[in-house]
Parts: sequence; C-alpha cells; structure tokens
Amino acid sequence: MYTPVMSIASLAEGESTLVRVGGVEIVLCHVDGQFYAVNARCSHAQQSLAAGRLRGYYLTCPLHGARFDIRTGACAAAPATQPIARYPVLVEGGKVCIQV
Ligand code: FES
Repeated sequence: MYTPVMSIASLAEGESTLVRVGGVEIVLCHVDGQFYAVNARCSHAQQSLAAGRLRGYYLTCPLHGARFDIRTGACAAAPATQPIARYPVLVEGGKVCIQV
C-alpha cells in the first residue's frame, strides 16, 4: 500500500526532506524529475541521514561521510559497507506516495 506523504510541489528539484511512514523515518529526494525514498538511518552507526548532503544521486551521511546511491540504497563510499533500504515511490494525483 502506498502512503501519500506530500504534494510534488513541496519538494524542489535537488532537495531532500525527512518524512515518516508508519513509524519509519525516510529521506525523500527529488532528482532529475524523479522522487526517491531511502531509509533515514545510516548503515554505519545509525546516524540520521535527514541532514545529509544530497549531490546528484548521492546522499552523504553528516557524521562520517558514507555515501549512498538513492536510486538503489547501495553504499558508494566508506566507512559504511552495507546498503540502506530503498522504498518504491509513486506519483499520483500530484502527491508523492511511498510504499514501506
Ligand atoms: S554514521 Fe554514517 S558514516 Fe558513520
């Protein structure tokens, strides 16, 4: 089941924001006209990625600098070695909806 989290106009291109779906904290990102949703906890030491820097398709952890590909959740730079969860996103009726 997809849960609507915000209107598409609420998140500018190149920006990210923290949303919650069913108690799960998620970083929602808007890149190149698409929306991507990944778990907000870094797989290294559980730091929140809410304040992480988004550059292109990569979200950088603010604590030790691990980098994650928001398209897949894959870890792209140490010190993390494990991926983070990625969630399916659907745009419907002008709303961004996430399946957790
Ligand atoms: S907690 Fe994210 S890189 Fe260490």
